Amino acid sequence: MPPSDLSLQAHWMPFTPNRQFKENPRLVVGAKDMHYTTHDGRQVLDGTSGLWCANAGHCRTKIVEAVKRQAETMDYAPGFNLGHPGSFRVAERVTQMLPGDLDHLFFCNSGSEAVDTALKIALAYHRARGEGNRNVLIGRERGYHGVGFGGISVGGIPANRKMYGSMLPRVDHLPHTHNLKENAFTRGQPNWGAHLADELETRIIALHDASNIAAVIVEPMAGSAGVLVPPKGYLQRLREICDKYGLLLIFDEVITGFGRTGSAFATHTFGVTPDIITMAKGITNAMVPMGAVAVRKGIYDTIVGNAPPDTIELFHGYTYSGHPLATAAAEATLDVYEEEGLFERAKEMAPYLEQAVHALREMPNVIDIRNIGMVAAIELDPKAGKPGERAFKTYLKCYEKGVLIRTTGDIIALSPPLIINKAQIDELVGTLGGVLREAGRD
Ligand SMILES: Cc1ncc(COP(=O)(O)O)c(C=O)c1O
Repeated sequence: MPPSDLSLQAHWMPFTPNRQFKENPRLVVGAKDMHYTTHDGRQVLDGTSGLWCANAGHCRTKIVEAVKRQAETMDYAPGFNLGHPGSFRVAERVTQMLPGDLDHLFFCNSGSEAVDTALKIALAYHRARGEGNRNVLIGRERGYHGVGFGGISVGGIPANRKMYGSMLPRVDHLPHTHNLKENAFTRGQPNWGAHLADELETRIIALHDASNIAAVIVEPMAGSAGVLVPPKGYLQRLREICDKYGLLLIFDEVITGFGRTGSAFATHTFGVTPDIITMAKGITNAMVPMGAVAVRKGIYDTIVGNAPPDTIELFHGYTYSGHPLATAAAEATLDVYEEEGLFERAKEMAPYLEQAVHALREMPNVIDIRNIGMVAAIELDPKAGKPGERAFKTYLKCYEKGVLIRTTGDIIALSPPLIINKAQIDELVGTLGGVLREAGRD
């Protein structure tokens, strides 16, 4: 139970069954490296990097110090018509990490804002080129692009959409790529499924006509909907079709950015370069909220170049775009990633995580295990009439036993900080295995 002087009632918690949580709350009060400290003093191994965001582990001294220094020096600077050096430095460094001519970065404060920003930039780009009729946006079933109206419109998670009315009017969705019959227990990218990208041409472009379509947005690896690794050749095929018909390709790298798949970005891991990349989470190692959108040179040049001189070229931005505390956190975070070689480490550690999770194959109710880089999912057979219950009970038991996992429906996702060592992977997966075994087959 939480401290007796703490009332839990006023806070309406996000993506949480509030009543259930408040009856049986779980509170954390500290974090360091791989662990959280609970309010009653227990250590919990973080198997999820918070919410896929503390990629370098928690409360890293270099980042803490940088934020402290910045807070003492300059708390805030307006980002409209005024700048501060930090945001320019971060933009330079992040774009240098990206392939091709993805060389301009627009700042915001979250993944949801990054997605809405990216969609607006795509629409503005076509309009600046004189093709403003290109305003259909294509997402994908099971896609998660945050919770703004743009993001849920192109997103494909029914529960996130069904309460909210009509959303953006001109949207369509590609089919998702999840198929247990073809791909169960695949290590890395599945062989089956590249052809699903062809629906972009054969159904969606055929239906809407390419002249009306602005952009296609996908997570290169779908994270929140349960770690759906792209089939071999799938992203390449999307790229080819987008090129053929003049559609912008947007990769939502809010989860995959900053090392998760074993390279700096998933664009490197999968060898496909999009026109726009959204990012957030790992950009500041979760120390201060920040999101960003990288765009190719041609997009920036078109929007900026087509506006009359001395005018604002893009009527978009946030009070906290490029907030000094966030940029200070980002600079220090990029230092930590670089100095500790954490993206290389993720790649080196990935086979160990892969071996460990696939050893759970024989556990009760496991119907799939999949993985890439430092992310893995264990999918459980849903209980009849009670979807999600089996995985959520597993989550609660693991937490009791000192390990934090994440669940979506009946899918358990593991995405530990990239500093995790082999013994900690053993602890994480071993605890999960023990809980699955104990729960048994029911
Ligand atoms: C791919 C993707 N896009 C967007 C978001 C939304 O990010 P935020 O929660 O920071 O708004 C998320 C969050 O998990 C995400 O996974």
